Amino acid sequence: MKKKLLVTGLPDSFYEGKRVFVRVDFNVPVNGTEITEDYRIRRAIPTIDYLTRVGARVILASHMGRPKGRRIGDLSMAPVAQRLSEVLGIEVRFPGVVVGKKVESASKKLKNGEVMLLENLRYHSEETANDAGFSQKLASLADIYVNEAFGTSHRAHASTYGMTAHFEKKLAGLMVGNEIKFLNRLIRRPKKPYVVVVGGMKIKDKIGALRNIIKRADRVLVGGGVAFTFLAARGVSVGRCSVEKDMLEWARGALATYREKIVLPVDHVMTEAAGGGKRSVVITGDEIPDDMTAFDIGPKTVDKFVSHIRGEGTVFWNGPMGLFEEDDFSNGTSSIARAFALATWRGATTVLGGGDSVAALKKSGVNFSEATHVSTGGGACFEFLGGSELPGISILSDS
Ligand code: 3PG
Repeated sequence: MKKKLLVTGLPDSFYEGKRVFVRVDFNVPVNGTEITEDYRIRRAIPTIDYLTRVGARVILASHMGRPKGRRIGDLSMAPVAQRLSEVLGIEVRFPGVVVGKKVESASKKLKNGEVMLLENLRYHSEETANDAGFSQKLASLADIYVNEAFGTSHRAHASTYGMTAHFEKKLAGLMVGNEIKFLNRLIRRPKKPYVVVVGGMKIKDKIGALRNIIKRADRVLVGGGVAFTFLAARGVSVGRCSVEKDMLEWARGALATYREKIVLPVDHVMTEAAGGGKRSVVITGDEIPDDMTAFDIGPKTVDKFVSHIRGEGTVFWNGPMGLFEEDDFSNGTSSIARAFALATWRGATTVLGGGDSVAALKKSGVNFSEATHVSTGGGACFEFLGGSELPGISILSDS
C-alpha cells in the first residue's frame, strides 16, 4: 500500500479559515451519560489540537453503537462533546443534529480554531447505506476531509467512503497514520511465533478476516462468542450460544486444514441466563447443555491458552473471552490480559485491538503501557492484519 498523505503533510497555512470535516471513531462505551473508556477520544486529540492551532474550523463526526436509523437517547454524542471540551480545554459546539439547516448555519458560523461535534451519524440509516444524497449533505459542510476513524475504516459508509468523492484532499489523521505504520510492519514481518487470540461477539466480521489471519499465524486461540461457530462446526453441542450459520461450512474446512493451529475451548463457565443472580457453573467438557449459555472460558481452557502466550514472537489479541463486565464471567478475560502483559515484559510484541478488549484490559488491572501497541480498531484492525484493503483507507490521497 502506498503511503497516505497525513494531515500534517501540507503547509500549516493551508488550513487557515478552512472548514475541515474529521471523521472520528468516538464509538466509546457509555453508562448513562458517563463515558467509561475514552481511549478512542484521547487518541484523536493530537489531530484536533493540530487543526485548531493552525486556524482550521473543525467539524467532527462519529457514530455510536448501531441505532439503525433511530434516534436513541442513550446513543447520543452529547457526553462525548462534554468530555472533548474538558480534554481540549475549549468549548466544543454541539448542534444535536447531523444534517440540515441548523448544522449548515452552525458550520458557517464556526470561527478559526473552533470545534463542533455532530450528533450520532447512525441516527440516519442513510449513513450505513452509503446514500449519495446524505454523503453530499455531509460533504457540503466542509472544504477538506480527514479520516481519523481507524476503527470504522473497514466500513464503506457515507462518512467514511461516499462523501469523500466530493473532496480533492482526503487526508489521514495522525492516529490513522500511526496505526497503518505499526500494523503494516506486523503484516510484513511478524516476529515468530505469531499467536492470535480472538474472542468477542462480532462473529461475522471476525470470521471473515480470520480466513486470512489463520494463514499467517502459528496459533489461533479462539474464545468468546466466536468459539461457538467453530465448536458447532466440529459437531459439539453449543446449547443456547449463537452460531454464525453462514460460516459453518468455512469453519469446518478451516478445522480440517489447520487442525494444529486452531485451539478451541475445552471447558466453559455457563448459566441459564446472564447475571441477575443466576447460578453460574463450570462445565468441564466442551459440550454445552441445551438449556445453557456459556459466558466465559473455563479454567482448563485458560491454562491451555495461557501456555501459548509466551514472552517471544508476536501476540495479537482481539475480543474478550466472555462477558467480562460481570465478575462471575471475567476470569478468562482477566487471565488472558495478565498473560498478555507478562508476554510484553518478557519481550514479545503485543498488539491489542478493539474497544471491548481495551475496556477488558483496564478492568483486569493491566496498563496500556503493558502492550506494545493498543489499536483503536477492533474489526478494522483485524481485517487490516488479515491483509484486506479497508475502504476508508484506500480512498485517502497518497502522499
Ligand atoms: C468498532 O467499535 O469496531 C467501530 O466503531 C465500528 O463499529 P461497527 O462494528 O458497529 O461498524
